[in-house]
Amino acid sequence: MRIGILTGGGDAPGLNGVIESAGTTLLRFGHEVIGICDGFEGIYNRKTVSIRLEDLEGVHANAGTLLGTSNKSGTQGREKEFLESYKALNLDGLIACGGDGTFSGLKKFEKEINLIGVPKTIDNDLSGTEVTFGFDTACTVVAESLDALRATADAHRRVMIVETMGRTAGWIALGGGLAAYADAILIPERPYDPTALLEYIKGCKAKGKRGLLIAVSESASAKHSESKVAFRVEGSPQAERFGGIAEHLARWIDKESGWEARHVVLGHLQRSRFPTVTDRFLTLSMGVEVARMAHEKKWNHGVAYRDGKVVRVPISDFMGPVRTVDSDHRWVKLAQSLGIFI
Ligand code: F6P
Repeated sequence: MRIGILTGGGDAPGLNGVIESAGTTLLRFGHEVIGICDGFEGIYNRKTVSIRLEDLEGVHANAGTLLGTSNKSGTQGREKEFLESYKALNLDGLIACGGDGTFSGLKKFEKEINLIGVPKTIDNDLSGTEVTFGFDTACTVVAESLDALRATADAHRRVMIVETMGRTAGWIALGGGLAAYADAILIPERPYDPTALLEYIKGCKAKGKRGLLIAVSESASAKHSESKVAFRVEGSPQAERFGGIAEHLARWIDKESGWEARHVVLGHLQRSRFPTVTDRFLTLSMGVEVARMAHEKKWNHGVAYRDGKVVRVPISDFMGPVRTVDSDHRWVKLAQSLGIFI
C-alpha cells in the first residue's frame, strides 16, 4: 500500500519519533511511505516526499517535525478542494498525528479517507487518552526553568512568575509546577481568589522566605475575570492565543505585597525541545502500533494511552470536550498536601 504520514497543528516533542517508528515499521512490511509536507497545507498544495529508511534513522531524537506542520489551516468550507487534492495523492491510507483541529478536519471524510490517528498536543488536553506525547517534555522545560529561577528569586529576594502554555487546560503548569515544588500554581480550571493569593504571598514573606516561585498557565485568571487573549490567528481552528497573565501578576504582586516580582514567559521553548525518554517510549509504541493498524487496514481508529498501555480506539474518542484538570485530581491533592497555593 501507499501510506501517507501527516503531522498537523502545533509541533510537539515526539512527532519525529512517531514518523521514525511508524515509517520504519511500514517500510519493513513492504509498504510505500509518503510524507505530507506542512500538515493540511501539503494536501492542498499536493506537496509530498517519498520516505526511505535512511531518511528516518535517528530523527526520533530531534524536536519539531521533519515533515513540517501548520496550525493555521482547516478543512471547513474547503471540503471539495481538500478531497480532490487528497485523491490526487493516490494514498491507500493516511496516518495523521494531530489534535482536535486535525481530527475534526479529517473525520468528516471517513468514507473517502482511510484514516489512522495519533493523538498529539503538549497541552495534554485531548479526550480519549490519558496522556499525549510532548506533555512530559513540556513539563520538563517548566520544571527545569522553575528550578533555575529559584536561584535568582532567592538571590534577589524576589517573586518569580513563570507563564506556561496549555491553552484552556492547566496540565503543563500543574505538572511542571509540582515537579519543581513551586509555591503557587495557577491554572484555568481553578480561578484564583486575589485576596487569598495576596494573603498567602504576604504570609510567605512574613515567615522569612527569600524567594517565591509561581507557575501560571497562560489562560489562568482571577475569579470572575476573563483569560487574557494576547492576539488572534484568523483561520486557525483555535484562533485565540493566550498570554499576559504572568506580567499582570508580577506588576500586581509588586504593588500590592511590596515584594519585588518579575515574570518569565516560556512560550515555544516548551515545544521546541528534544523529547524526554518518557515521550520517546510513548511515540515509539504509538508509531509501531499505528503502522501495524495500517497494515491490517484498521481504518478510522487511533492509538490512545490507557491504564499503562497503548490501545486501539475509534478516532471519534479524540473528539470529545477538552480534558481539563478535575478539582479532585491526585496532582491537585499532592500540591495541597505540600502547602502549595492552588
Ligand atoms: O496547543 C499547543 C499550543 O502550544 C498551546 O499551548 C498554545 O496556546 C498554542 O499552541 C500556541 O500556538 P502558536 O504556536 O500558534 O503560537
